[in-house]
Amino acid sequence: MNRDLIYLDNAATSWPKPEAVGRAMVACLEDEAGNPGRSGHRLSLAASRRVYAVREAVAQLFGAPDPLRVIFTHNATFAVNLALGGLLSPGDRVVCTGMEHNAVMRPLRDLEELGVEVVVAPCDATGRLDLEAFARVVAAGPTRMVALNHASNVTGTLCPVAEAAELAHRAGALVLVDAAQSAGSVPIDMAAMGIDLLAFTGHKGLLGPTGTGGLILGERVNAAEMRPLVQGGTGSRSAMERQPPDLPDRFEAGTINFVGIAGLGAGLEALADLGGPEAVGRWERELARQLWEGLSAIPGVRLFGTADFSQRVAVVSFTVEGRTVSEVGGRLDDEFGILTRVGLHCAPAAHRTIGTFPTGTVRLSPGPFNTPEQIERTIAAVRRIAEGA
Ligand code: ALA
Repeated sequence: MNRDLIYLDNAATSWPKPEAVGRAMVACLEDEAGNPGRSGHRLSLAASRRVYAVREAVAQLFGAPDPLRVIFTHNATFAVNLALGGLLSPGDRVVCTGMEHNAVMRPLRDLEELGVEVVVAPCDATGRLDLEAFARVVAAGPTRMVALNHASNVTGTLCPVAEAAELAHRAGALVLVDAAQSAGSVPIDMAAMGIDLLAFTGHKGLLGPTGTGGLILGERVNAAEMRPLVQGGTGSRSAMERQPPDLPDRFEAGTINFVGIAGLGAGLEALADLGGPEAVGRWERELARQLWEGLSAIPGVRLFGTADFSQRVAVVSFTVEGRTVSEVGGRLDDEFGILTRVGLHCAPAAHRTIGTFPTGTVRLSPGPFNTPEQIERTIAAVRRIAEGA
């Protein structure tokens, strides 16, 4: 592992992982290798207990009503697909925002072809949701669901979820929040924020491995009316040929990724040891502010998103006049060992909103293990590239 690299791509996946994550996964494979919820022997029971402990930790982190309403999935994309595909039917109306990732836009555009009405509420050029326009759009027709991108993976801009949720609930809509970019960096309390469906990933701010994530169902969601995306064995009610109604089994067909979930559990413990989402978010935002201030002093560099750091997470997108984003990202990697993500970041809607479609931006996303010294080196590297050195 090359620790000399400056890894600023935590929005794609966090790195390095806390060492305990790998250790927990290896221990799980070596010592608890039974199938959770299936057989009744000791290894299966040990795996079941571990999975349940992680379910409880996730529920506690996000203020979920019940650990059994935490549905483990492969990632946030699967969770979003489950929420949209499970609850929307032809004739329903859904409102999303102008900052959505393709994890939301693609299934919505597909549902649109099946007769679901999809309305996109506008955001301003910093990515901030226009709440007045949102209120008008939500109230314009019976709305089944609103889908809100909590923190943009392009600009870091936060959505005013609590305010938007109140408007949505007044109109009778369920509130789905895509927390892929905020979980672990922003405190999230489902009840206090009015979130009915929370989609999260395990491999970003929660510091776990890829292949983990979930959808949490709030109390307003009637799970019996929600269609599973995948059906199959659950280890429960095996005599039934229909998917059982019980949670979480209804939505967790097939053997779950319990090795990954063990790693996620260790990631959550590491996050708590770092002080939890509030402290980690503060640290990351300080690094982002340092980046923002340093980069904004470089002639030819243009920054995107809001300068109000109370309204963003640590994702900094920029362009350099006269240089393509690929050239900047490639040189940062090749010449300076600085790892970024360039282009559209699977979020063309967000880039249209901020005016960077179709070429995109260079994105820097600090994580809990980056340092101010690394940020200084990054600013100096961008300066060299911008100045044509
Ligand atoms: N959605 C992730 C990103 O923004 C993968 O890079």
